[in-house]
Amino acid sequence: MSTHTGRKNSNNAFIRFTKHFFLLAFVILVFIIMIAAVKRQDFRTCAQTSFCRRNRAYADKAASSPYNVIEDTIKIEDGVISGELINSKNKIYFIFEIHLLINNVVRIRVNEKSPLKPRYDRVKDWSLIQEPIITLEYTENTVKDGFTSISFGIDRNHKVIIHHAPFRVELLDNDLPVITFNDRGFFNIEHLRKKDDPVNSQPDKLVIQSDDSADLISEEIQENIKEKQEDGSWEETFNGKKDSKPNGPESIGLDISFPGFGHVYGIPEHATSFSLKETRGGQGAYDEPYRLYNLDVFEYELDNPMALYGSIPFMMAHRKGASVAVLWLNSAETWIDVVKSKEDKHGLSSFLNFGKTTPISTHTHWFSESGIIDVFAFLGPTTSDIFKQYGSLTGFTALPQSFAIGYHQCRWNYLNQLDVAEVDAGFDKHDIPYDVIWLDIEHTDNKKYLTWDKTKFTDPEKMQRDIGRKGRKMVTIVDPHFKKDDNYYVYKEAKDLDILTKDNNDQVYDGWCWPGNSVWTDWTNPKAQDWWAKKFAFDQYKESTEFLFIWNDMNEPSVFTGPEITMHKDVIHYEGWEHRNIHNLFGMAYHAATAQGLINRTIPHRRPFVLSRAFFVGSQRFGAIWTGDNSVSWDHLAISSPMLLTIGISGLPFSGVRWYQTGAFQPFFRAHAHIDTKRREPWLFGEPHTSYIRDAIRQRYILLPFWYTLFQEASTDGMPIIRPMFVIFPNEEETFSMEDQYFVGNSLLVKPITSQGQTSTEIYFSRNEVFYDYYTFKKVKGSGKVKVIAPINKIPVFLRGGSIIPRRQRFRRSSLSMRSDPFTLLVALDKKGEATGSLYLDDGETYEYQKGHFIHRKFNFTSRKLLSTSFIDGQIIDKENNYIKSNQDLRVERIIIVGIDRAPKKIIGYYNDLTDDKKELEFSSGGTNYIGINIEEISKDVVIIRDPKLFISKDWTIEFVN
Ligand SMILES: *[C@@H]1O[C@H](CO)[C@@H](O)[C@H](O)[C@H]1NC(C)=O
Ligand SMILES: *[C@@H]1O[C@H](CO)[C@@H](O)[C@H](O)[C@H]1NC(C)=O
Repeated sequence: MSTHTGRKNSNNAFIRFTKHFFLLAFVILVFIIMIAAVKRQDFRTCAQTSFCRRNRAYADKAASSPYNVIEDTIKIEDGVISGELINSKNKIYFIFEIHLLINNVVRIRVNEKSPLKPRYDRVKDWSLIQEPIITLEYTENTVKDGFTSISFGIDRNHKVIIHHAPFRVELLDNDLPVITFNDRGFFNIEHLRKKDDPVNSQPDKLVIQSDDSADLISEEIQENIKEKQEDGSWEETFNGKKDSKPNGPESIGLDISFPGFGHVYGIPEHATSFSLKETRGGQGAYDEPYRLYNLDVFEYELDNPMALYGSIPFMMAHRKGASVAVLWLNSAETWIDVVKSKEDKHGLSSFLNFGKTTPISTHTHWFSESGIIDVFAFLGPTTSDIFKQYGSLTGFTALPQSFAIGYHQCRWNYLNQLDVAEVDAGFDKHDIPYDVIWLDIEHTDNKKYLTWDKTKFTDPEKMQRDIGRKGRKMVTIVDPHFKKDDNYYVYKEAKDLDILTKDNNDQVYDGWCWPGNSVWTDWTNPKAQDWWAKKFAFDQYKESTEFLFIWNDMNEPSVFTGPEITMHKDVIHYEGWEHRNIHNLFGMAYHAATAQGLINRTIPHRRPFVLSRAFFVGSQRFGAIWTGDNSVSWDHLAISSPMLLTIGISGLPFSGVRWYQTGAFQPFFRAHAHIDTKRREPWLFGEPHTSYIRDAIRQRYILLPFWYTLFQEASTDGMPIIRPMFVIFPNEEETFSMEDQYFVGNSLLVKPITSQGQTSTEIYFSRNEVFYDYYTFKKVKGSGKVKVIAPINKIPVFLRGGSIIPRRQRFRRSSLSMRSDPFTLLVALDKKGEATGSLYLDDGETYEYQKGHFIHRKFNFTSRKLLSTSFIDGQIIDKENNYIKSNQDLRVERIIIVGIDRAPKKIIGYYNDLTDDKKELEFSSGGTNYIGINIEEISKDVVIIRDPKLFISKDWTIEFVN
């Protein structure tokens, strides 16, 4: 999890000015901190946003939807149902298409039949990895008057029903409705029109009011037209910044209901609860819809549906026994209203075993400023099915370099080369492992990215090589705004290539950012993508080495002088598209080009590491970390809990120790500090805190093989690295809104401590399973909410019975220096005395794994026997597998088995091919916990096998005798 969100920036010139003089005066610092909190008035509310007002008003007035299917246009062909719709009020025609896709996914697209000009429909090219595959597994049911019904899926257990008048689409799973579109009649497409046409200039009047054309020129209507023109349909001004809106109103909207689903999750990024709250007022509800519009919101407010840095219009709904999700594929500004209701028009109570109580249903209303309607429905039925369905469409998490999951040390800014060397040495001196040191904007020559400030960093190459020699890496920041300075080669090249964004007068768009007057390259231009990727070649990015990686910040984009601190919506991009259409994917397009640059700079290619602040649907393919963070949304969701958001706003709201302990159990483990803060490298906290921090970081390194295995899993089946409680326990309703505890993989239950001075906490343990304290291996007594102690030196972590976790328990200075270390397997038995787990290993930096050069093992403990076998059948083994060839000697040095009901008399071990004799193994019961932290004596029902001398790449068995 990144802790850099909200790291900096304000459009206040005073802050920008003073940050260079941060050492000057404490008084100034206090002042900065006071004025730096989010300025609510910098950001639009729904009421200050014309299309948001219009769509909400439309919803409030909607009685019956005016959109009807023209029956004789319906066609069902090769998995696509299509036809025409008419808005019966204004006689505008639309084309709808419903695609039945493989793996229980349905796509709905609606566009104008003959728009004045094309509407933006390129999001799919950025977010989807390929054209979705249409299924031919369907059966047309009777097409009766009034509706069209089709069963689909291999067992034909799903159904789509299209109601013709008004247009409404229902998706059913085994005859139970799971998602319905336009159930409440909020479907609305503002057709493109000309400003000087009095009839067509009105955005919604025609739809809602009379269609009697005689009235149209009456005074009242004229008045309405004027009013509508003034209300922002054709021009809008916010905080003195004008949006010229050359195309006028063009918004789209649709309501999506989840009958019987009481919880919905997703649509990051918001500082809100995990299970989303309602948004139309009332107790415990917001008044504003959730907003998706990538913005640089410094020190944002908690418990608020305001937009933040990234946007993923993906929402999951869950009820006992079923999960479904939708993806609203649109990169324009988007708002989502959520309300819940108790109603039972589908007769769900009897089906869903609700008995006499009425199930709660969730109703959502999505609207975007422009584009077309392009929605995907994922019908699960399980959460892991949905992760796979979503990943198959938008791409899975890229497998990161292995260093990326180590510990990152970051600050704005390490001052100079000596400072870097000292911090680096500090880790060695204090015996704390770390992998990456980061340099913020001050490392550049006057904020000209891809250059160095040579007075501070006299020999950047040597600096990187010194770090690299210890198995460590460096990250530098590279932002998407370029200083407007003809002596700056990057700016000059972009200008000469004519790839800069233009304002609405066809002049290069400029604005203010860190370097002062700046310009923005149009990353949606393929020429810009190609050019930028080449900028990372070692002969282009001068004095960069293979130890250097990149951080893309400010890519929402942040424009200090722009409306809401971002780019004007009427800025022009590639092929004339306005910024308004592509805003939310702009940052991802930049991120993609940077990642490609890092991949291509070496032959053979190596995996990139690029952290991006802005994100969108598909970002997981370019930055493993954000993916780790949210797959793209899920990991982030699991912890977009008040806790982490709190970290984001204030850097260190609770003690530094707790902060490190929490980070150690998140996918991305980085400490970052603002330029105005005190230095806070781990050893500056003082004892005993430094020791506690060292322990937390070591905890992370011990588990690196486990984390890496989880990343591999995410890269192939989309399972998030850290998982919400309801994903693990989909039938335990208590878990559906839990956000303060989560799982790492399926195996470790983590509950971060988030308040000052807290030394105990309550944790929910499932009734049906066994859990063990991660440190003492003692079985948890009781289930449901259980109170556990959590002294300052301990983060509450529990082992789930049934898991096998691979660890490396030797302390070294970086992850790279651990790569030949032997393994410890931690086996935690479930109620039946069984456990399973896996281990994935590869070179950690190249793409050789895609050719089969890796080790992937499955461990299975049953009937008092532990088996290690190949994870997949037919894996390339031994001689042809370069990774195994160079890692023949990797071995298991210890096996800890927890939850034994009776100690064995003897334990034997052997290779399954019997190349060696069966050996009797040495073991003991009890002892210390072997992770360097002597918290307590460990539990007695533990067996520790010492040095079984078994190679990790081979098939072997360990057997309890008696
Ligand atoms: C990156 O490398 C691949 C092949 O290795 C090549 O096809 C592609 O054009 C390169 N991209 C850039 C921007 O150089
Ligand atoms: C573990 O082994 C048992 C017994 O052979 C088998 O039934 C079970 O499916 C295995 N579990 C896994 C995850 O492979």
